[in-house]
Amino acid sequence: MKTLVTYFSQTGQTRKVADAIFEQLPGDKEIKPFDQVENLDGYGLTFIGFPIIAFGPAPPAKDFLAAKANGKQVALFITHAAPESDERVGEWLDRCREAASQSELIGLFDCMGELSEQIADYLLKSDDPMMRSYGERRQDTVGQPDSTRLKQAGEFAKETIDKVKG
Ligand SMILES: Cc1cc2nc3c(=O)[nH]c(=O)nc-3n(C[C@H](O)[C@H](O)[C@H](O)COP(=O)(O)O)c2cc1C
Repeated sequence: MKTLVTYFSQTGQTRKVADAIFEQLPGDKEIKPFDQVENLDGYGLTFIGFPIIAFGPAPPAKDFLAAKANGKQVALFITHAAPESDERVGEWLDRCREAASQSELIGLFDCMGELSEQIADYLLKSDDPMMRSYGERRQDTVGQPDSTRLKQAGEFAKETIDKVKG
């Protein structure tokens, strides 16, 4: 079975998770960004990664899932600046599941990814206190995903492959 890891990553955080997943996959495998993937024909399983943008899946991920993943076995991996335990994260992940509702979703992994300085500066200038509070928490995200989270991503990859094979 051939496995694909594909991702959209603006500042490189989701890319780090993609690499950690790819590293742990056995056998025939490929890794490439969304824009280099024509279709998912020939892959038994595809890991699809992207960041949360504005409380839901990044728009290119919505487009990719709708155009290319219908009826395919997929596993999602998602990064966001909020801590995994943040109560709002569950809702954002539900929106990601919804975007993949035409696919066969085998698994989902999410973890923190660093909020870029540029985006934090932008959020700090917002009139919305909630947006400003996100900007203020950039420091807590620096260095994420760390080695622990990347290891968890690798474990997720192995577990997901076992599910498909089993
Ligand atoms: C325009 C924009 C909106 C974002 N919205 C959210 C959000 O709603 N919730 C959140 O936790 N993180 C949000 N983030 C942070 C990213 O999800 C996070 O930094 C992610 O790890 C970036 O991944 P990337 O480097 O692969 O693009 C946002 C980032 C950008 C650029």
